[in-house]
Amino acid sequence: MKETPISYDVVQRHILQSKIRNIGKATIREIKKLINGIEVETGEKFIRMEMGVPGLPATAIGLQAEIEALQKGVAAIYPDIEGVPILKKEAARFVKLFLDIDVDAANCVPTVGSMQGGFAAFLTFSKIHRDKDTTLFIDPGFPVHHQQHRVLGQKFETFDVYNYRGDKLRDKLESYFSKGNIHSVLYSNPNNPSWICLTDKELRIIGELATKYDVIIIEDLAYFAMDFRKDYSKPGEPPYQPTVAKYTDNFLLLISSSKAFSYAGQRIGLMVLSNKLFNTKAPDLLRHYSSDIVGTALIYGTVYALSAGTTHSTQYALAAMLKAVNDGELDFVEVVKEYGAKAKIMKKMFTDNGFTIVYDRDEDEPIADGFFFTVAYKGFTGEELLQELIYYGISAITLSITGSERTEGIRACVSLVKREQFPVLEERLNKFRENHLI
Ligand SMILES: Cc1ncc(COP(=O)(O)O)c(C=O)c1O
Repeated sequence: MKETPISYDVVQRHILQSKIRNIGKATIREIKKLINGIEVETGEKFIRMEMGVPGLPATAIGLQAEIEALQKGVAAIYPDIEGVPILKKEAARFVKLFLDIDVDAANCVPTVGSMQGGFAAFLTFSKIHRDKDTTLFIDPGFPVHHQQHRVLGQKFETFDVYNYRGDKLRDKLESYFSKGNIHSVLYSNPNNPSWICLTDKELRIIGELATKYDVIIIEDLAYFAMDFRKDYSKPGEPPYQPTVAKYTDNFLLLISSSKAFSYAGQRIGLMVLSNKLFNTKAPDLLRHYSSDIVGTALIYGTVYALSAGTTHSTQYALAAMLKAVNDGELDFVEVVKEYGAKAKIMKKMFTDNGFTIVYDRDEDEPIADGFFFTVAYKGFTGEELLQELIYYGISAITLSITGSERTEGIRACVSLVKREQFPVLEERLNKFRENHLI
């Protein structure tokens, strides 16, 4: 048996005790728990790449505003479900300044993380047309969105965009839309897990078809402005974060504070609806809601039923952070660039040791360096690779739980890996290569 950095017996025992039937299919949180246990027993620190935790301190402006709001007594008062006016105003400004899109402040609604925004959108949009009961995922994607559908008992279809980049996307989407059952499409851009970024051409195709077939596009901007190949950091100045909202008025944007402001713990995000979608009249909604207006049903029907709004103090935090970036006083992109810098170094360590990048291009351009990247190793499936890397003190998740058809790959998240750990990562990857010569 080959010598590995982490004891074979310990890893084996923990996998057995964890009762995870198949490591490759384990959820992110199951992997996290497993690795925690191995770390405690061995005293060895893993290179933790399974979970997308920010890894940077929360934005101080938000913390300060939240403390002040709490001291003023907001904790005792139910927040308005549609959100506090100052947040709605700054959100609409942000959308104008960083996406160059006009939306009314009324259409910008806080949610308990953008996770809840997705949940609320799926719930509501599946009820707009009685014949349209299915979401389409442009995958790979964030596994929890699939899970939300399972929990809701809702239908979804999915395809891996890897083989349908550029013009090929049109026919592929049309093959779904023309069936008439799709109410919404969801994708994240930049993409979790692959870090591909849809090009303007692709966003235009999605937008045009959304208008043609009356399908809502839910664009998940959890990694807003983090395609560091371009500088999207200047308010009111091009280039702007690319968005489908340029090409259709049938959109809902999910904007998260978790990564942009390292505010994941406070669970606040935003849903931003186009003016058209917000005011759309849909009689079929009356089967479930007292209003037939999409925006009203979404806010006073769904969000009310889910959590009666979003934590009062966090709304002031997000309002203050958005105001600071809108006013050009805070450059949030500069702060998170560290993820891209780390990814560049880490990707090289992997490729120098025989790994290949699975999702490697945006049409004809190499993908950006950012929060995630995907790797494979010849002769291994993603599930085998994930399991084997645990013996080398490296943890990740497989692509198979993300709707990816590239079953050979795993997703690596750079955020929790500290620069001081780079020599250890390199050493462990060297060892892996020595033990698995290609
Ligand atoms: C693509 C994507 N969407 C949504 C989320 C969740 O965002 P939030 O923390 O705002 O709920 C994440 C978090 O990892 C994500 O990667």
